[in-house]
Amino acid sequence: MIDRYGPINPKCPHFLHGGDYNPDQWPQDVWKEDMRLMGLASCNAMSVGIFAWAAMEPAEGRFEFGWLDRVMDSLAGSGAYAVLATPSGSKPAWMSQKYPEVCRVNRDGRREPHGRRHNHCRTSGVYREKAQLINRKLAERYKDHPALLVWHISNEYNGGQCFCELCLAAWRDWLRAKYADLDQLNHAWWTAFWGHTFTDWDQILPVDSSICGMMLDWWRFISDQTIDFYRDEIVPLRELTPNVPITTNFMGINPTLDYWKFAGEVDVVSWDSYPAWHGPGGDAALACGTAFVHDIYRAMKAGKPFMLMESVPSATNWMDVAKLKRPGMHLLSSLQAVAHGSDTVQYFQWRKGRGGSEKFHGAVVDHHGSEDSRVFADVAEVGAALKKLDAVIGTTVRPETAVIYDWHNRWGIDLMAGLGEDLRQYAETCIRHYRPLWSRGVPVDVIEELCDFSRYKLLIAPMLYMLRAGVAERLEKFVAEGGTLVMTYWSGIVDENDLAFENGWPGAGLREVLGIRDEETDATWPHERNSVVMAEGNSLGMTGSYEARDLYALIHAEGAEVLATYGRDFYAGRPALTVKGYGEGKAYYIASRNDESFLHDFYGRLTADLGIGRVLEADLPEGVTAQMRTDGRRRFIFLMNFSDARQMVDLGAQEFTDILAGADTKGQTTLEPYGIKVLERNNL
Ligand code: GAL
Repeated sequence: MIDRYGPINPKCPHFLHGGDYNPDQWPQDVWKEDMRLMGLASCNAMSVGIFAWAAMEPAEGRFEFGWLDRVMDSLAGSGAYAVLATPSGSKPAWMSQKYPEVCRVNRDGRREPHGRRHNHCRTSGVYREKAQLINRKLAERYKDHPALLVWHISNEYNGGQCFCELCLAAWRDWLRAKYADLDQLNHAWWTAFWGHTFTDWDQILPVDSSICGMMLDWWRFISDQTIDFYRDEIVPLRELTPNVPITTNFMGINPTLDYWKFAGEVDVVSWDSYPAWHGPGGDAALACGTAFVHDIYRAMKAGKPFMLMESVPSATNWMDVAKLKRPGMHLLSSLQAVAHGSDTVQYFQWRKGRGGSEKFHGAVVDHHGSEDSRVFADVAEVGAALKKLDAVIGTTVRPETAVIYDWHNRWGIDLMAGLGEDLRQYAETCIRHYRPLWSRGVPVDVIEELCDFSRYKLLIAPMLYMLRAGVAERLEKFVAEGGTLVMTYWSGIVDENDLAFENGWPGAGLREVLGIRDEETDATWPHERNSVVMAEGNSLGMTGSYEARDLYALIHAEGAEVLATYGRDFYAGRPALTVKGYGEGKAYYIASRNDESFLHDFYGRLTADLGIGRVLEADLPEGVTAQMRTDGRRRFIFLMNFSDARQMVDLGAQEFTDILAGADTKGQTTLEPYGIKVLERNNL
C-alpha cells in the first residue's frame, strides 16, 4: 500500500523554500532585486504581510493593497508563491489609540501601552471584528491569485495573559460551562485550602498560584480563548478560499498553548525552530532535542508532513551567544527537519531591515545586499538540495515506538509546588529517554496522553504526573493487549484537576498494571549520586550498576519482578527497576533518574527484544543518527553527522543512491563534519 500524503498545496508539488519577507519595509526598487536573489537561492515560497497591518490599512477602513498586489504579481511572475499572512500579530497604532480595549491589561489592572507585537487582547470584540475584516479583504482580493499558496494565520500566538474585564468575563463563562456550580469548582480546586472557598463567580481572579487547579484551568482557558480567536480569524478564509491550506506557526515546546488541541484546527502544522548550535551542551544533544520537537509536529497530525516555518539562515540576534553555523550546519539542520517529516525549509528572515530591533538578526540577504556571502551560498545550497528531493514530498514515518510528552502534564508539573523547580526537568527527561532511540536510528513518534497508543509496540511515558480522564484505562488496555510500557518516578500522581490520587501511587489502577506502590520520593543535591544495581539473572539480561541522581522513588514491588535495586543510602536494596507481565504485555517502572548509560543499555535491550526496526542495521558513531521517510515502498534514509569530526558508517552490502551526490554507494560511507547524505535504497 502506498502511504503518501499530497503536497501541502497541489499547486506546488515541490519543497517550499523561502521565508519571512517584508517588502512593506522597503522601496520598490529593492523588490526587483529580491526577486533576482530569490531565483539564485532557489527560494519559491515567501511569507508575506506578517506584520503589515499598518501598510494594508493605514487608517481605519482605508485599505491599501496596491503594494501587495505588486508583490504577489512579482512572486507569481518569478514562479514563486506566497505564504500569505493575516496581520493580527501586530496592531496598527491608530487602532490602539481609538480602541484601547485591543491592548491587554496586566494583573494589576493597568492597560499596556501600544507597542511591540503579539499582545492584543484575544477577547476584544473590536479586535476580532477588525481582524476578520482585514482577513476578508485579503481573501477577497487574492483568492484567485496564482501566488496564493498557504494562509499563515497571525504569528506565534502565545499564552500572554490579559486581565481586562472582557477576558475575566469570558473566563468566568468558561468556568460556568465546565463546572455545573461553585461546589463542583471548589471541590475540583480544593479551595478549602487556606480558606479560598469561592461563593460568587466574580470572586475568581486567576492570580493565585496557591490554587494550583485554578491556575491550571486559567492556562487551559487562555489556550482555548486563543484557539477561539484563531477560529474567528479564519472564518472569511474558509468561506472564500476553501482550498487554500491554513496554518499558524507554533513555537517548539513552548508550554503556553495546547498545541495538540490547536493542531486539530489547522490544515498543516508548522513550527519555528531556533536551536543554538555549537553551544556548551554539544551539537548532538541539541540535534536530539530538535529531532524530538520535529517528531512531535509530525505526530500531531498522525504522520502528515509539517512545515518548518522559521529557522535562521545564520545566527539570531537574541541568543546570549549567537554562534554562526559552522560549514555544513545549515544544510544539515535544514534537512534534519525534512528527515523528520517537514516538506518545507523556511527562514526568518529574507532580508535584514535597516532599523528596528531585528536589524542584526540573521537573514538570507545581509545589509550589503548581494549574493556574495557565505550565508547566501549556504541557503542556495539548501535550495539546490531540495530540488533533488521531490520524491520525498508527502512521505512519512510510521514508528513502532512513542514517547509521551504531554502539554497538560507539563502544565501540572510547572504549576505544582514540589520536587524543587530545578530537579523537575520534565522536557529534558523525555528527551533523555528519546536519545538512545535517536542515537540508534529508531524512528519515534512524540505524542500526547490522548493519542491512540494501539499502533505502537513500545510506549515510553516519563514523569506522567497527571493522568487525564481515561488515560490510565488506555494505558492498561495497551499493556493488556501486548504493548510494552515504560513509566518512571513521579507518575500517576494527580488527576486532570491536579487532585492527588488516593489509595497509593501510581493512581487510577496503574499500581496494579505496574505491580508497584510508590510510597515516597527522595531528592538529592546536584553533586550527590546513588546507584542502581542490576539483580543477578534478571530477565532483561542487564548486568553491573549505573549511576542515578536527583530523584528516587521508594517503591514496593507488588507482583512486579525486581530487576535492579538501589545501591546506597537507607533504601539500599529496595527496588529501583521493575517489570510486570500484565495481560499480553509488560510494564516497566524506572524508579530513579538514571544516567545515560543506563538508558542506552535499557532501551537497547528493549528494542532488541521487541524486534523494533532501526533505519540502518549498523551501529552509528556518536553524534550520528539515521532517520527515514517512506511511502511504504520507496525509502529515503537521512544519515546525519552532528559532530565536527569525519565519521564512517557501514551501509552493508545493500546498494543505495546518494541523492545529493547523484552517485551509487554501498559499504563504508564517509560523513564529513556536519555532513548529511540522503540515500535511497536501490532495487526494491
Ligand atoms: C520568531 C518570530 C519572528 C522573529 C524571530 C526571530 O519567534 O516569529 O517574527 O522575531 O522569532 O528569531
